[in-house]
Amino acid sequence: MTIVKIEKAIDEFAEISKIFLEEECKEPVLKYHRVEDYEKLIDLSLKKEGCSEAVFFNLLKDISLLTPRTSSKSFFNQLFAGRSAPCLSAELLTVVLNTTMHTYKVAGIQVLIEKKIVGELLKRVGYTQGEGLMNPGGSLSNMVSMMIARNEKDETILNEGLRRGKFIAYTSTESHYSVRKNAGILGIGKNNVRTIKSDYLGRMDLDDLMAEIKKDLLEGNHPFYINATAGTTVLGAFDPIDEISKVAKKYNLWLHTDGALGGSALLSQQHKHLLKGSELSDSFTWNAHKMMNVPLTASFLLIQKKGLLKKHLSEEADYLFQEEKEELDLGNMSIQCGRKVDALKVWAAFKYYGISGMENRINHLFSLAKYAALCVEQDPLFKLFRRPESVNVCFTINGVDPVMICQYLHKKGLLMVGYSKAKGTTFIRMSCLNAALNTKDIDDFFSHVKYAAKEISKG
Ligand SMILES: Cc1ncc(COP(=O)(O)O)c(C=O)c1O
Repeated sequence: MTIVKIEKAIDEFAEISKIFLEEECKEPVLKYHRVEDYEKLIDLSLKKEGCSEAVFFNLLKDISLLTPRTSSKSFFNQLFAGRSAPCLSAELLTVVLNTTMHTYKVAGIQVLIEKKIVGELLKRVGYTQGEGLMNPGGSLSNMVSMMIARNEKDETILNEGLRRGKFIAYTSTESHYSVRKNAGILGIGKNNVRTIKSDYLGRMDLDDLMAEIKKDLLEGNHPFYINATAGTTVLGAFDPIDEISKVAKKYNLWLHTDGALGGSALLSQQHKHLLKGSELSDSFTWNAHKMMNVPLTASFLLIQKKGLLKKHLSEEADYLFQEEKEELDLGNMSIQCGRKVDALKVWAAFKYYGISGMENRINHLFSLAKYAALCVEQDPLFKLFRRPESVNVCFTINGVDPVMICQYLHKKGLLMVGYSKAKGTTFIRMSCLNAALNTKDIDDFFSHVKYAAKEISKG
């Protein structure tokens, strides 16, 4: 076995990527494979001896060709889509640089880059004195916010652990599952997350929120946290942050805005009104890997009050943190030790496209969803579940099970789109997150759905 030279590895990588991109154009949705099929298609076995260079790169090529094509124009399944060349370059460079964000000594200029982006996002949210840091995904940004809120509510928890009664968090029926999951992780307990009703559009119901808080106070529990969602996962709805902040203030509760999906709407003059009052929340999750199309993952937790990340996340480690200017060692503010450089690709997006380029992108996504909703409304075969507040279009098909449609489209290699459920109705959720799409692509999407419906109806 020879040692592969880096230059050769980069050439091989470029070649594999080219092949993958050509295949993606020809066949945008990978043929569906059952998990047991892979055993026959590719040798993933691990052996005592290694393999030759040729075998190795061939395997990498095959693995890439067997991976679902989530960046193609036929992917409407998740809250990320498409590909950005400048961000991709930055991300690949990050792999070559292979450093970590924990100290200024090893991250150097990358610390400045992360701070620069955090500064820009803080400004957008409206935090004048805030701070922020990147996390590996929105779920973890949400988790850090809940942890800080819990520790701020009872300052003994950080060192002594949980000792006092039930801490209660509030989040809507439409919020992301990470809120409950994080309560489980943080010792709050999933059963101590109150699920607040949502209105017709999927926004948190304030009366129900107040009623639940009052009930908990009467029972002697300790309310501490409200999670407002800016862009719910399924319906793309926006909770009224400004109204919720009044409740949070009245009862002295931490208000977190989960803007993992919809936070980026703050970049748009046209749509930022959806987040009215964002500056009144105590913390804010912003995922650049959703509407902004930065490669996965790129998530920020932004905090209104400076100093809390360090207060709750720093640890003594004199073998590591040796910088005179402590604020440059970002490991002191993070749940991680080693941490991937994620800021460079976000910086690349802002630098290359400019703020106005990002704004155009967000506006385009909203207009694609609006156009898709119009297509649904104008076709008697379809029924719009709700007029979309942002980029998700949820609809049903007369007489045909949406689950079967999604499965048919996937197995036939026509589209990847998902289904979901709200208020007792199951529907197709079409996520418009790929700004490379135009109205013709949306028309093609519906042609495929209609074709699937026809074929399924034939039986
Ligand atoms: C509203 C909301 N919050 C949080 C998340 C979790 O983000 P991530 O997938 O980056 O962990 C999602 C994911 O779709 C989401 O829709």
